[in-house]
Amino acid sequence: NVTRYYEFTITRGSISADGVLRDVMLVNNQFPGPAIEANWGDMIEITVHNNISYPVEGTSIHWHGFLQRGSNWFDGVPSVSQCPIAPFHSYTYRIPAQLYGSSWYHAHYSAQYTAGIVGPIIVYGPSQQSYDIDIGPVLLSDWYHIPYFSIVSDAVGTDLSEIPPTSDSLLINGRGRFDCSKPSYGNETTELLASHVSANLTWTCKDGAELSKFVFQPGKTHRLRLMNVGADGIQKFTIDGHQLTVIAYDYVPTTPHTADFVTLGVGQRADVLVTANNYTTNSFWMRSSAPGGAACGGSNMGEVMAAIYYEGADTTVEPTTLRGSNDTVCENAPLNTTEPEYTITPTPEGAYVFDITLSLVLNSTGNYEWRMNDQTFRANFNYPSLMLAAEGNTSFPDDPQWQIHNMGSNKSVVLNVTNLTPFAHPFHLHGHNFHVLNTGYNGTVWDGTAVNPKNPMRRDVQIIPQAGWAALSFESDNPGVWPFHCHVAWHLSGGLAMNLVTHADQIPSIPSGTKADTCTDWDYYSNNNVVDQ
Ligand code: C2O
Repeated sequence: NVTRYYEFTITRGSISADGVLRDVMLVNNQFPGPAIEANWGDMIEITVHNNISYPVEGTSIHWHGFLQRGSNWFDGVPSVSQCPIAPFHSYTYRIPAQLYGSSWYHAHYSAQYTAGIVGPIIVYGPSQQSYDIDIGPVLLSDWYHIPYFSIVSDAVGTDLSEIPPTSDSLLINGRGRFDCSKPSYGNETTELLASHVSANLTWTCKDGAELSKFVFQPGKTHRLRLMNVGADGIQKFTIDGHQLTVIAYDYVPTTPHTADFVTLGVGQRADVLVTANNYTTNSFWMRSSAPGGAACGGSNMGEVMAAIYYEGADTTVEPTTLRGSNDTVCENAPLNTTEPEYTITPTPEGAYVFDITLSLVLNSTGNYEWRMNDQTFRANFNYPSLMLAAEGNTSFPDDPQWQIHNMGSNKSVVLNVTNLTPFAHPFHLHGHNFHVLNTGYNGTVWDGTAVNPKNPMRRDVQIIPQAGWAALSFESDNPGVWPFHCHVAWHLSGGLAMNLVTHADQIPSIPSGTKADTCTDWDYYSNNNVVDQ
């Protein structure tokens, strides 16, 4: 096993992903950011340079789905596992590839990743299923024409109709096609123009923007690594005239399951096999849809397409439409349709059951606030590392104010989540794959049973149905401080997050020189009012 080295420089820029020029933040001037590739068991070392200017912002990068077993301090969450990387400072992460499959990295500072700080991660490992060609990452995302901080302020604002804001576009691998005759973001043209950070960015929209293209070899089987790296929308992925065989969800290989479509909430991945065996024509549309509708985080665009050409087809001609778009599906595949390839049987007997409710509440200042157990989460940059506080602390106290919940030294924890809101929430737990014991809708509660109790579905993000519930359990075998949060960027920024402390007494000593143990470079900037917290 070797160490793979990467160097990421984060800057502001402007790109037109869907025909509309907007301000973005880029990794090495690319969108999506460069792919990280490694083999199972490798160490990955990434040095991040924060060159975001002007205005400056802190940043931090999270390596989604990485267990960080023994390296919690490289998990990349400001105020939990590190201080933000201060403007014009650099920081080196060392993350072990303890799982294999398809994942992504993203900024974890406010909703900054929706500005463009996202990219794919592929960890190559054994596969039980054979295929011929690895097409690589297929990134699905929603896209907005205004900067993220302006959306964040709407998302915690006073107008329920803007919670969550409806996205302008959808993208496949960073490309989509906006219809310039349509208004952006609820036609708030003034807001749109006023909120651009670079004063000299001129509003432009070009029709007919270029879409992503893929080439398939006739008769061969291709592996596509689907990832929802968007802000909000639940994406439904299809390919005209082809079926999809799912072989992994998130970082968990699954027994193969064939379907017409795959649904991915933000943060979720699916590895699918597609055989190029439709000879009725030689080019096809790949589609991802998220029709409007607040419950699922819909987009005004409804659907985005990318072209698939069989080898030899004329790539200057767009595929013909084999069918219209169809409705969104706002939930993950039924739990009895697929199971992990490697069995891990949960130990619910004697597990610690932690009840969690999700709510959206109008607070005393007239703003909407997302809450877990009646408390909203705010990042605390003055107390930057919960980890540091928790390290080796045998009786680390719960602190509802900072959404700290001690799971003690229980071997197994059940998160019994009841969603009191009319929105679906893709929930993510850091540092673990959880079992999805069961889910349900409207007015029902968990009855303690599990679907497929010997080998329940495992993954690291699960969509919690609107006004429904999910019972998730995890084997608590990774001492640390682990965020459990909604992955909708606007809900996370609005406070729908908490921190689970596990085995505080066994949290390894934090090495000096990691961002977990010093915030002095950041203090310099905040004390000098370079940035406004
Ligand atoms: Cu992909 Cu806490 O996030």
